Amino acid sequence: MNKVCIVGASGKLGQYMVQHALDRGYEVVGVCRPQSVGKLGALKGRITIVPGATNDPEVIKQAVAGCDGVLTVLVPWGVKQFATGTAQAVLDHAKPGARLVFSCGWHISRDGQDVYSWKLKTFVKVFGWLARLTRFADLDDQVEACRRVFESDTRWTVVRGSDLEEGDSQGLPVWSRHVGDPILASNLTRRVDFARFMVAALEDEALVQEAPAIAGCQTV
Ligand SMILES: NC(=O)c1ccc[n+]([C@@H]2O[C@H](COP(=O)([O-])OP(=O)(O)OC[C@H]3O[C@@H](n4cnc5c(N)ncnc54)[C@H](OP(=O)(O)O)[C@@H]3O)[C@@H](O)[C@H]2O)c1
Repeated sequence: MNKVCIVGASGKLGQYMVQHALDRGYEVVGVCRPQSVGKLGALKGRITIVPGATNDPEVIKQAVAGCDGVLTVLVPWGVKQFATGTAQAVLDHAKPGARLVFSCGWHISRDGQDVYSWKLKTFVKVFGWLARLTRFADLDDQVEACRRVFESDTRWTVVRGSDLEEGDSQGLPVWSRHVGDPILASNLTRRVDFARFMVAALEDEALVQEAPAIAGCQTV
């Protein structure tokens, strides 16, 4: 792995991923909205920034050129299929054989075998309804984005994050194929470690075509 692209580099998760990727010695290309370029100011000169919408195929095509890995933050903001467009652009334009790692939440299920708490089910129902009503976000968009990834024959991993908190790293999170596994009981991960897991997944063959649900290794 020499060169990686981080799609959504200016967000909280994205900035942690940039740092982990640089620490590993990768050459980094970051894609972020033009109005957010300033958030990456401290990294000026250390990474290449491609400003633009992450669901714009031309922007993604330019950014992922020559990259061995692509880390994509999937967010369901707005009601214009933003996450789906972002995932599709990466699937269409990443180099054949590249490792593709996507982020999402626990509410995404690959095979319907996840066991969710009533709290999470209620949150998804209420937040999903309110978000769509106000046109703030469309949770189904992230579901569709992940469905397309799951169906693709690329070398993908979909990392499903628990609730997140800030704080110093506790190490690489634990993972399971299914929410409801006792190892994930804490439902809490440090954001810096979510990013660590995403970046480590680039070189973890065991995670190819897996959708690990993760939780902090010391929050169990
Ligand atoms: N928050 C949680 O508790 C939680 C829990 C589980 C999983 N996750 C997953 O973790 C990932 C990132 O979560 P995060 O909370 O750490 O957020 P984050 O890193 O701050 O990411 C937000 C991303 O969304 C972009 N964004 C914000 N508003 C936007 C808009 N209106 N249109 C387009 N893009 C917009 C941001 O770009 P700008 O820098 O340009 O604003 C940034 O790239 C997501 O995949 C999420 O599903 C989050």
